[in-house]
Amino acid sequence: MKIAIVGTGYVGLVSGACFAEMGADVTCVDIDRAKIEKLKQGIIPIYEPGLKSIVQRNYEAERLHFTTDLSSVLHEMKIVFIAVGTPSDKNGNADLSFVMTVSETIADHITRPLLIVTKSTVPVGTSHRIRDLVRRRLDERGLREMTFDVASNPEFLKEGAAIKDFLSPERVVVGVESECAKELMTKLYRPFLLNNFRVIFMDILSAEMTKYASNAMLATRISFMNDIANLCERVGADVNMVRRGMGSDSRIGRSFLYPGCGYGGSCFPKDIRALISVAEDVGYEMKLLKAVEEVNNLQKNILFEKLANVFGEKLNRLTVAVWGLSFKPETDDVRDAPSLTLIRSLLDAGVSIRAYDPAAIEEARRVLGDAVYYANDIYDAACGADAVIVPTEWKEFRLPNWEVLKKIMQRHVVIDGRNIYNGAELSSLGFEYHGIGQK
Ligand SMILES: NC(=O)c1ccc[n+]([C@@H]2O[C@H](COP(=O)([O-])OP(=O)(O)OC[C@H]3O[C@@H](n4cnc5c(N)ncnc54)[C@H](O)[C@@H]3O)[C@@H](O)[C@H]2O)c1
Repeated sequence: MKIAIVGTGYVGLVSGACFAEMGADVTCVDIDRAKIEKLKQGIIPIYEPGLKSIVQRNYEAERLHFTTDLSSVLHEMKIVFIAVGTPSDKNGNADLSFVMTVSETIADHITRPLLIVTKSTVPVGTSHRIRDLVRRRLDERGLREMTFDVASNPEFLKEGAAIKDFLSPERVVVGVESECAKELMTKLYRPFLLNNFRVIFMDILSAEMTKYASNAMLATRISFMNDIANLCERVGADVNMVRRGMGSDSRIGRSFLYPGCGYGGSCFPKDIRALISVAEDVGYEMKLLKAVEEVNNLQKNILFEKLANVFGEKLNRLTVAVWGLSFKPETDDVRDAPSLTLIRSLLDAGVSIRAYDPAAIEEARRVLGDAVYYANDIYDAACGADAVIVPTEWKEFRLPNWEVLKKIMQRHVVIDGRNIYNGAELSSLGFEYHGIGQK
């Protein structure tokens, strides 16, 4: 089956490589020439565990192709996925300009029946907008008889575990409005779910909504736990215990109950804003989600506040080590990362920053420039520092050599934004420890 994936970012490249891995003939399309050229040379533009080998293997086997020109390959395709970005616009709406540009190219070059699938996260109704645009253009081109289908197939992969998530998904959500689209999508996803077919078919509007509702639920759990954590600190309870006690109730479950320094990344913040904005457009107020966003915005300042509580007003003489820049471990994505909120506050306060991340230094440098010293490892970052702050819980941060750190740090404050350390143990080693939601 020949398919094109338009947009070769985190979602498009992973989807393309994984479809090719199952034997499909996939062309990944992107307007970024440099990215496509690099991919043809085997250079992977993002850090995602396992991605490089799967891309290289399928490229060499000629099941995975790269191009910047969708119009020249469209006539060969049975399915085209749209996987371009849908960032927030200045009002918090999803900016659909990339999605609509791709749709126009499809509308202008489609020459035979095609299934157009929206994989980008888009507001409810977008796939129908695409359908109407393509129909109008086909009519204008005198191709009134030509049929095509649209479908919605929102993506649920997690950066850092994207290959695993895509190759063995917990479920696949597909919105369709024709038997033909349903058959094609069934054929495409069957290899991923041979033993237990977990494709949930539904109408297109519900599929589009499912993606936003899922992200909204996850973000709500995070903000809820951050609110509980902040209260725990004030009443002397330990949120780590509270989380365990709550999570063992099967109605609640254990996942996504970890307090921290706020959610970031390329999805939750913009998707929450977009859902609030979609609701406003139809005269409904998402009161709960507004609070979720507000709690998160406050939580992103919490590491800086903890530092200020320890050192008082005179922060401008401090040197601080920041361990972790990506919005979560196992990715180089720094979009809306809590580390950036922290670093901007530190810079405003005149603090010298020594930052380290196993994968995201280049991405961070693109955003922060040279205002920060980028260290070679956690010890280089901590050298001469008054405090270590951990916004991202990379595994390699979990078991540092505290004796070495004791020697190389100027003062011995540890602010743990992800509760990965044992406060009592650190105190016994002579560190001043501050976690989230603990006494
Ligand atoms: N990143 C995630 O973890 C994730 C997970 C689920 C869903 N999503 C959704 O998937 C979509 C894509 O996200 P992403 O993180 O992969 O974005 P990304 O920014 O990593 O990649 C988007 C790509 O689209 C390309 N592009 C833009 N306009 C184009 C055009 N006209 N033709 C061809 N290519 C074009 C860009 O050059 C870029 O390479 C978004 O809607 C996002 O919300 C993302």
